[in-house]
Amino acid sequence: MSVPVLTIDGPSGAGKGTISRLLAKQLGWHYLDSGSIYRSLAIAVLKQAVALDDVDAIVNVAKAMTLGFECADELVVKLNGEDITAQLGLEKTGNTASIIATLPEIRAVLLQKQQDFKQPPGLVADGRDMGTVVFPDAAHKVFLTASSIKRAERRYKQLKEKGIDANLIGLTKDIEERDRRDRERATAPLSMASGALFIDSSDMTIDAVITQVLDFIR
Ligand code: DC
Repeated sequence: MSVPVLTIDGPSGAGKGTISRLLAKQLGWHYLDSGSIYRSLAIAVLKQAVALDDVDAIVNVAKAMTLGFECADELVVKLNGEDITAQLGLEKTGNTASIIATLPEIRAVLLQKQQDFKQPPGLVADGRDMGTVVFPDAAHKVFLTASSIKRAERRYKQLKEKGIDANLIGLTKDIEERDRRDRERATAPLSMASGALFIDSSDMTIDAVITQVLDFIR
């Protein structure tokens, strides 16, 4: 039986996580937050103080790590049995994830872990290369973006709500730097899959984005 897959790719902070989670809930499908897999590996690498240019050592950490995802109200992620949910959203984690995600050897090790999420009755997969590399045969593909200023503002609000100190100018700089690295890397760069629906959510509500995607897939 073929399992329908909806891929939602786009740059950091475009709202992919929120939109994908809500869509998965409405459709009754599974949800893959592929960024959290790269982020979990980043946490493992930082914990073990592995140098970010030691590719073999990072590959070994990636191969050895076991990840558990529990979908309660929020996604709970366990790395080798330890709850790492609180560290997932840190800027340091995201920036390290973006650096190790440039390594083709790492992407190869993490490919199957992501494809294993494709289970009946369907999957919503969010990331950078879901529609281009991980699920190229997906039935429905979306590219979700927003201006870097809007994305930095949303991130600023999220961090403030969590009581984490943040600086809007620094966040905008980080987001632009991460965009550049994600778009310009040689392997599986962030790009729009052919046939994908393009959505710029800068001035859209979450509900409006959800409606547009549901109209597209129906
Ligand atoms: O979506 P995110 O911000 O949680 O992802 C963190 C980093 O992981 C992102 O900057 C690049 C990398 N990533 C990737 O290369 N491919 C994916 N499918 C998802 C994330």
